[in-house]
Amino acid sequence: MSNRNKMVSTVENQYTMRKMRKEDIDEVYQIECQSFSAPWTKESLYYELEQNLFAKYIVVEHEKQVIGYCGLWVIMDDAQITNIAVHPNFRGKRIGEALLRFAMQLSREMKAQRLSLEVRVSNHIAQSLYKKVGFEPGGIRKNYYTDNQEDALVMWVNLI
Ligand SMILES: CC(C)(COP(=O)(O)OP(=O)(O)OC[C@H]1O[C@@H](n2cnc3c(N)ncnc32)[C@H](O)[C@@H]1OP(=O)(O)O)[C@@H](O)C(=O)NCCC(=O)NCCS
Repeated sequence: MSNRNKMVSTVENQYTMRKMRKEDIDEVYQIECQSFSAPWTKESLYYELEQNLFAKYIVVEHEKQVIGYCGLWVIMDDAQITNIAVHPNFRGKRIGEALLRFAMQLSREMKAQRLSLEVRVSNHIAQSLYKKVGFEPGGIRKNYYTDNQEDALVMWVNLI
């Protein structure tokens, strides 16, 4: 990721998109807890930032508050979204879309040819976002989510 921060403008506000730092973990964890029934732990977020050489994490900031984030793994020519979420108070402002488009651009810059993700079959809002930016359904992973045995829909987009 380039060191330059990216400005994101919506009708109402301007947001800054930048690389996630260790100091952001508490705020990202709060958004995880508000967004997912089985949130990642602070330790797993720390591991991603400090140990996982394949991981890239981006946050969106507004008035010094982290309001969204997206994680990526890029391994050779395959990239994968690990998680994406926007603070509930800031949803519906195209911030999720901006994060995803930024993740796609970053994956391209890192020479990935495909970007994929798993999404709960019941999560129609996220599926709608992914379709909007070009993702297509690829298949089903049965009983993928351990909290309720829900199936995952695999979606992917060609980056070339
Ligand atoms: C999914 C999520 C990241 C979307 O972020 P967001 O900033 O609210 O979404 P955006 O404003 O960028 O919306 C972009 C597109 O997503 C879809 N979308 C967003 N909110 C929607 C809603 N309430 N109903 C239907 N579609 C919706 C639409 O296609 C929208 O495009 P449009 O504005 O042209 O209609 C956010 O809802 C979230 O954090 N959800 C909880 C965590 C989660 O489910 N993450 C995905 C895990 S796989």
